Amino acid sequence: MTTLDIPELALVALVGISGSGKSTFARRHFRPSQVLSSDAFRAMVADDENDQSASADAFDALHHVAATRLRRGRLTVVDATNLQPHARAGLVRAAREHDVLPVAIVLDVPEALAWERTEGRADRTFGRPVLARMQRDLRRSYGQLAREGFRKVHVLRGMAEIDAAEIRYEKLF
Ligand code: GTP
Ligand code: MG
Repeated sequence: MTTLDIPELALVALVGISGSGKSTFARRHFRPSQVLSSDAFRAMVADDENDQSASADAFDALHHVAATRLRRGRLTVVDATNLQPHARAGLVRAAREHDVLPVAIVLDVPEALAWERTEGRADRTFGRPVLARMQRDLRRSYGQLAREGFRKVHVLRGMAEIDAAEIRYEKLF
């Protein structure tokens, strides 16, 4: 078992390429109301969770809700790829503004496995080069997460580690 220690009040950013299992992990470990997913917010603002033209508005709305939850002292999980520094910077900033610890959970599965899963999904239509770019962004992210301000960086490598992960909440006081 891999125990992931997370403060009771945290902003958790899931980090992983498409098909790495972020949404599955979020469903397994967190309550639905704790999870803010970019897909759900695209659907909310555009009636289509794949409408990439809605991404900017969807993330605006997601950040707004995240900030509101943190102000209210609620653990919040962001289910998006979070592969680019600029995507993560807003989350770290929101956490800091609310005196909440930003935590990253990286799901790192082989690109071929993620592709196999993604290829079979009607709602994922991008090509292999897009996934390869995500994989490059992921590799680059490793060296950056702590520097960006994530106070804990949990890395789960491969299916076995992801399957065996359990979350343990640390009391704040
Ligand atoms: P995006 O939303 O595209 O970024 O992907 P994601 O990282 O949220 O992946 P998601 O959780 O949607 O998983 C993608 C596919 O892989 C789904 O069809 C899942 O059923 C499958 N999958 C995810 N995690 C597991 C796992 O632990 N075991 C198995 N067998 N399948 C999994
Ligand atoms: Mg997902």
